[in-house]
Amino acid sequence: MRVLGIESSCDECSAAVVEDGRRILSNVVLSQVDFHRPFYGVVPEIASRKHVEWIHPVVEDALGKAAATLSQIDALAVTYRPGLIGSLLVGLSYAKGLAWALGKPLIGIDHILAHLYAPHLERDIDYPYLGLLVSGGHTIIARVLRHDRIEVMGTTIDDACGEAFDKVAKHYAIGFPGGVAIDRLSATGNPKAFHFPKPSLHKGEAFYDVSYSGLKTAVIRQLDQFWDGRSEKSLANIAASFQRAAVDILVDRVLAAAADTGMRRLVAGGGVAANSYLRARLAAEEGLEVIFPSLALCTDNAAMVAGLGYQVLRDGKVSDFTLNAEARVPMFKRAYP
Ligand code: KG4
Ligand code: ZN
Repeated sequence: MRVLGIESSCDECSAAVVEDGRRILSNVVLSQVDFHRPFYGVVPEIASRKHVEWIHPVVEDALGKAAATLSQIDALAVTYRPGLIGSLLVGLSYAKGLAWALGKPLIGIDHILAHLYAPHLERDIDYPYLGLLVSGGHTIIARVLRHDRIEVMGTTIDDACGEAFDKVAKHYAIGFPGGVAIDRLSATGNPKAFHFPKPSLHKGEAFYDVSYSGLKTAVIRQLDQFWDGRSEKSLANIAASFQRAAVDILVDRVLAAAADTGMRRLVAGGGVAANSYLRARLAAEEGLEVIFPSLALCTDNAAMVAGLGYQVLRDGKVSDFTLNAEARVPMFKRAYP
């Protein structure tokens, strides 16, 4: 069975053809980074307009690379939440039109669940496991019970992890996307030049929650307070020290969740899962099976959407044409009192 996946939740315009939820026949990802770089962040209106221009050629390219015609596609899977609302609507409306014209099933896909499905495209992974989803908009630690069922244990109470990378990179004009630029620059920096603060929220319901706004503020506004007094105050040292703190915050909570649940398998996903220090830190954890998708499947792509779409189709959960886009999913980002 071949599913055409469409992903337009943020600034990547992507379409993919995946067979039986596993074999990637094509995965075309057209990034808009060049258009957003001057602003050091994704500009929602530019993102929507680029999706309108690109969605059709990107889908045609994905079909061409898969050597598939529309009549050989069995279903359409499309991201409908969460994300930038204007961007989501482009992919969703396009997919609805195509599904209606072809008389093929439409499957609405949750972007967070799609990220967690990404490594399943590359290897067999048994459920349940501990999931770590770290992207530009979300930071989630969850028990993943099935491809369509997760129990959120912790989220961010303010900024997402990737958002902190992006904002620090923007403030110091390090580059865009921020996470990639900081990761690269950190390789030449001293991660101990600054001892940035890590929040302690570890009480009651907040036990697995993380917070990034304090770290972000410290890095941007209170650099001197956390300086070791000896190292150079270079961008590389700031980047490496920030990256270490940002990753430590995550790893600390993930290890607590693993210990408390007894889950020894950890699957990571989302753009920040491409971070080299996070990958190295978790890989070094003994007694924990850590599974990361390959770098290309960490960031936004339609193959993960098509792959999950196949599983949802097998469950018989087809969407109807009243499906609408949703910018936020409340359980993925806790509103904190
Ligand atoms: O999953 P994704 O492509 O889009 C969202 O769903 O948000 O994630 C994008 C985020 C951005 O914040 C970007 O800065 C971050 O992932 N990112 C990284 C790295 N590569 C991308 N963060 C840290 N290290 C990286 N190597
Ligand atoms: Zn994403």
